[in-house]
Amino acid sequence: MDVKKLQTEIRKKLTEKKGILLAHNYQLPEIHDVADLTGDSLELSIKAASTEAEVIVFCGVRFMAETAAIVCPNKVVILPVLSAGCPMADMITAEQLRAKKTELPGTPVVTYVNSTAEVKAESDICCTSANAIQVVNSLVQADTVFMTPDKNLAKYTQRHSSKKILHWDGYCPIHNNLTAEEVIACKQKYPKAVFMAHPECPPEVLELADEIKSTSGMLAFARESDRTEFIVGTEQGLIYPMQRDNPGKKFYSPSEKLICPDMKKTTLAVLLQALEEMTNIITVPEHIRVKALTAVKRMLAIPKG
Ligand code: 13P
Ligand code: SF4
Repeated sequence: MDVKKLQTEIRKKLTEKKGILLAHNYQLPEIHDVADLTGDSLELSIKAASTEAEVIVFCGVRFMAETAAIVCPNKVVILPVLSAGCPMADMITAEQLRAKKTELPGTPVVTYVNSTAEVKAESDICCTSANAIQVVNSLVQADTVFMTPDKNLAKYTQRHSSKKILHWDGYCPIHNNLTAEEVIACKQKYPKAVFMAHPECPPEVLELADEIKSTSGMLAFARESDRTEFIVGTEQGLIYPMQRDNPGKKFYSPSEKLICPDMKKTTLAVLLQALEEMTNIITVPEHIRVKALTAVKRMLAIPKG
């Protein structure tokens, strides 16, 4: 089946099953074009929490579908490719976090949504790249907080908070691989371009950034800015919706390595198959879900920054 036919079939099945298709900003172009909503992790969590649909098809990685299952226990949540995971989320286990909490009694745990449901269940509050600073600064009673799993997001947040931020040493293998040398070379090639970076990038890359934003934050900035050239310091999937929204502007990737293989696993064919067969359903054990929900709900109560 060609792309158009697959997209038509997917839309038909979604109507039949009272489903909604959510897709992360890094998904393939043909997935963007068939989705009801694309967005960053925060926008997708909010949408999952508020949708009337009976079925949520989540084109993204496992932690995103798990978050939907955490906030919507009565809906069917489908992750079209079960092996689509996030290596950073797997860098800390619930057991490791429990041991850390024993070392740091009384220190609130702020967990990036790029984490397993079990790890969220051990946390006080979740955050995303769009709201990490607001979340940490909302913990008014605490002088020290512990952030997990991303060391780079923690170091970035530290620059915007008077609290002492301790952190786990996890990282996104894709963003952490971007080097200052690659960014400098790209800036030299495109001297008029604004350099936007994701907070998962290492500190020496963020030092070079004109703007540090979540994926949807970058999309909004590119749309609203008077500038016409942008270096996109995040996974290359974001360039498709950016270019589509801003046909007159130019977008450059600073590195050919900025591709998350897990985000590219979801194709139209596998998505249609999962929807037809209602397979690859993500569930979270109730005792974990209830605890993780508390941490996610606390985050959702914080306004987006
Ligand atoms: P955003 O929440 O900024 O979309 O980031 C999610 C992610 O996986 C970044 O690598
Ligand atoms: Fe995880 Fe990085 Fe892929 Fe995002 S880009 S899903 S953080 S590995």
